[in-house]
Parts: sequence; C-alpha cells; structure tokens
Amino acid sequence: MIVFHVEHHVDSLLQVSYNMTMPGTKTIAISNQKGGVGKTTTCTNLGAALGQLGKKTLIIDMDPQANTSSGLRYTEAEDTIYDVLLGNISITHAIRRTEEDSVWLIPSNKSLVGGEMEFRDVDDWHFLLRDALKDVDGYDYILIDTPPSLGTLTIMSLVAANSVIVPVQCEYYALEGLTQLIKTIMLVRNSYNPDLKIEGLLLTMFDRRLNLSKQIEEEVRRHFGRKVFNTVIYRSIRLAEAPSFGLSIVKYAPDSLGAMNYVELAKEIAYEESLR
Ligand SMILES: Nc1ncnc2c1ncn2[C@@H]1O[C@H](COP(=O)(O)OP(=O)(O)OP(=O)(O)O)[C@@H](O)[C@H]1O
Ligand SMILES: [Mg+2]
Repeated sequence: MIVFHVEHHVDSLLQVSYNMTMPGTKTIAISNQKGGVGKTTTCTNLGAALGQLGKKTLIIDMDPQANTSSGLRYTEAEDTIYDVLLGNISITHAIRRTEEDSVWLIPSNKSLVGGEMEFRDVDDWHFLLRDALKDVDGYDYILIDTPPSLGTLTIMSLVAANSVIVPVQCEYYALEGLTQLIKTIMLVRNSYNPDLKIEGLLLTMFDRRLNLSKQIEEEVRRHFGRKVFNTVIYRSIRLAEAPSFGLSIVKYAPDSLGAMNYVELAKEIAYEESLR
C-alpha cells in the first residue's frame, strides 16, 4: 500500500479552489518536479482539446527541453520565451500559430537552460513572466508547461498562473515529491500570488491491466478527494507517437482513447469552470 506523507496544513490549499470565477483568461501551469509524468503530453493535448471546444488557447513552453515546442513543429525555434523574458522582444512577437484549431504557441529552445541561473540576478525575477503576460489578451486559456524542477522557471510560471494542474503518473513512486511540490505552491501563494489554486491532480498513464494503477488511483482519491480530476489519462501508444508527427492527439488520432481522455479533461475544466 502506498503511504502519503502530506502534512495537514496542505489541506487548506487543496480545498479552496472550487469557488473561483475567472473572467477573461485563465492561466494554468502544469507542474510536477518529477520527470516524465506527463506534463508536456498534458499541456499539448489539453491545449488542443480546449481549442477544439472553441476555447482560444495559448501554450507557453517554459521548459528548456522544448518538448512541447517540437511536438507542435517548432524545433530549435528562434524568438522564444527566453527572448521575451530577457526583454529582447515583445511577447506578441513570440506567439506562433500551430496546426491545431485555436491553439497558439510561444516556443522555447535550449538557451532557456541558462535562464534558470541568469534570471535570478534580475530584480523581481519572480514576476518576469507574469508581467510579460500583461501584454497578452483575447485568450480563454493560457497553459504553461514547466520543467521537471522547482527552480526559477517553475516559480515564475506559478507566479504567473491562476492555478496548477499536477500530473501524477500511476506508478509506484508516483507520490514522491508531491509534498515538496505542494509546499512550493504554498510558498508562491503566500509570497507572490495569493490567488494561486490547485486546479487538480491528474492521474496519467493509467494501465487498466495493472492492479498498481488502480491502487494508486484509490489512494490518491482517498487522500485528495475532489481535487483529483474525474478524468483519468490512460496509457496509450498513440499519445506517445503523436509528437513525432508534430500533432496533438486530437489531430493525429481523434478516435483514440488518448484523444477521448484529453477531450473529457478539457470539458471537465471548461464546463465545471462555468459552474464555479
Ligand atoms: N498517457 C500516456 N500514454 C503513453 N505514453 C505517455 C502518456 N503520457 C506520456 N507518455 C509518454 O511518456 C513520456 C513522458 O511524458 P511527458 O514528456 O509528457 O512527461 P513530462 O512530465 O513532460 O517529462 P519531463 O519531466 O521530462 O518534462 C513521453 O515519452 C510521452 O510520450
Ligand atoms: Mg515535459
């Protein structure tokens, strides 16, 4: 059985987020410092699914690995989020069209790796992304993909966001690091962004053949209750293939289970929102 070590004060953070009405743009960071849990897959495919629902969506790649960018056909892009944060170009100049319906992208490239250290020397670096976003409007959603760390780039993303989606991979060490992540979210909330909420924990790579997946799901739901999305993302080879074609799952394999899962997630986010 999997044991949680999440402290009690965390519960307050988890309970507050269901009563938020956000007129205009909603900005959601997708974060977990654990690598390979489905952050990028969620960012791209949730973005594409929201776009398909007619929600105008901007995806921002804040990861120097630039997987979101290359998965949407911007490999080794120039005029990236790094240039925006440095103040070298305007944010509107960095926004690109994608092949997806109603989805735009601000790409990253590997030069952003220097940003992790470099931006720390800038006064008020925490606010760099948030301030840059003041010049962006007209989007229903902004999704920010973050790197597998709790460093500068992730903190900046959390400061700029209204809420956070935490992908949790259905595997044995899934919950490792979750306490640390939640503490970081609370720190950002207490210091820089008092309205930051947890949008939800998202179970990813669920394997219906494995008892372990079911056990993890039960445990996560028991502990985090309604903060866990009803939608679960199943393990699907199509989801892993899509980025190599530069497409989201809803374009690459619209009838696949992966596409269905991400459309369901988009509906859960978009429609529950209107009820909140
Ligand atoms: N539901 C899924 N089914 C099958 N493969 C998946 C699924 N979700 C993600 N993957 C694959 O798992 C790997 C890790 O996923 P992804 O890149 O989205 O994780 P990440 O959290 O962004 O990783 P990193 O921490 O390196 O940024 C990728 O190869 C991806 O294609
Ligand atoms: Mg990633």
